[in-house]
Amino acid sequence: MQGYIGIDIWVGFKVEPVLKVENVDKIYDMGGEIQVTALKNINFEVKKGDFVSITGHSGSGKTTLLHVVSALLRPSAGEVYITGHPISKMDDSELAVVRGSNIGFVFQSFNLIPRLTALENVMLPLWFQGVPKKERIEIATKILAEVGLEGRMSHRPGELSGGQKQRVAIARALAVDPDIIVADEPTGNLDSASGATILELIDKLNIDKGKTILIVTHERYVAERAQKIIHIKDGEIERTEITSKGKKDEKIRRDYK
Ligand SMILES: Nc1ncnc2c1ncn2[C@@H]1O[C@H](COP(=O)(O)OP(=O)(O)OP(=O)(O)O)[C@@H](O)[C@H]1O
Ligand SMILES: [Mg+2]
Repeated sequence: MQGYIGIDIWVGFKVEPVLKVENVDKIYDMGGEIQVTALKNINFEVKKGDFVSITGHSGSGKTTLLHVVSALLRPSAGEVYITGHPISKMDDSELAVVRGSNIGFVFQSFNLIPRLTALENVMLPLWFQGVPKKERIEIATKILAEVGLEGRMSHRPGELSGGQKQRVAIARALAVDPDIIVADEPTGNLDSASGATILELIDKLNIDKGKTILIVTHERYVAERAQKIIHIKDGEIERTEITSKGKKDEKIRRDYK
């Protein structure tokens, strides 16, 4: 089903990108005179239903960039637009709302809460949104089943394998049904079989559910699952590459026009 690729054609006018990054710099202030420039003049946009990878060496600024585009960090300069809304104009509580409802973030180190079960971890973002308990349990149970963890609902993170923890992290990101899924090295800590399961899951979210996907990876074969690869080096975009999958999708788009 390729319907999402043609969305700007169905509606007949140009659709706002769901994410837009404009002239973004990020400087970490370490106190005193010490500053680390992690991002320099970053510009790109992501349209609805796109699957984009960001790749680069360790320390090149990938995680910083994901945090900035997801409004977990404010840029030092430039602007980030989430579904057309400039984040510099929002206060912290408005940012939390935009983040909580539009973006599902999967962290490099999972960030699951060790004392909570898999089910409770997935229920948590729904609690922040004020969803009643019965519904929280229903939604979290359904999503955990979708990621193949129906038998692990009451396990705590310490009682799960790396791949299972990653699936709980993805399920938690999906809990509020966000349009955009952002994942930092989703296969980074996994063996190849668990990694393949996670990649299939991400593909399914993109193709079947039309979710917009932005992932960071340093592995070429993972980056190639996307339509577009953004290469970053020392905090700058070195080049943007359209993958063979992206070229195929562009052809379908042209043929429909
Ligand atoms: N909180 C912070 N305070 C100061 N400097 C930081 C902070 N976080 C990251 N940095 C620095 O910013 C640069 C980019 O870091 P970042 O974590 O974005 O890299 P990365 O590309 O994700 O690396 P990796 O592949 O190892 O995860 C690095 O030089 C890092 O040391
Ligand atoms: Mg990183």
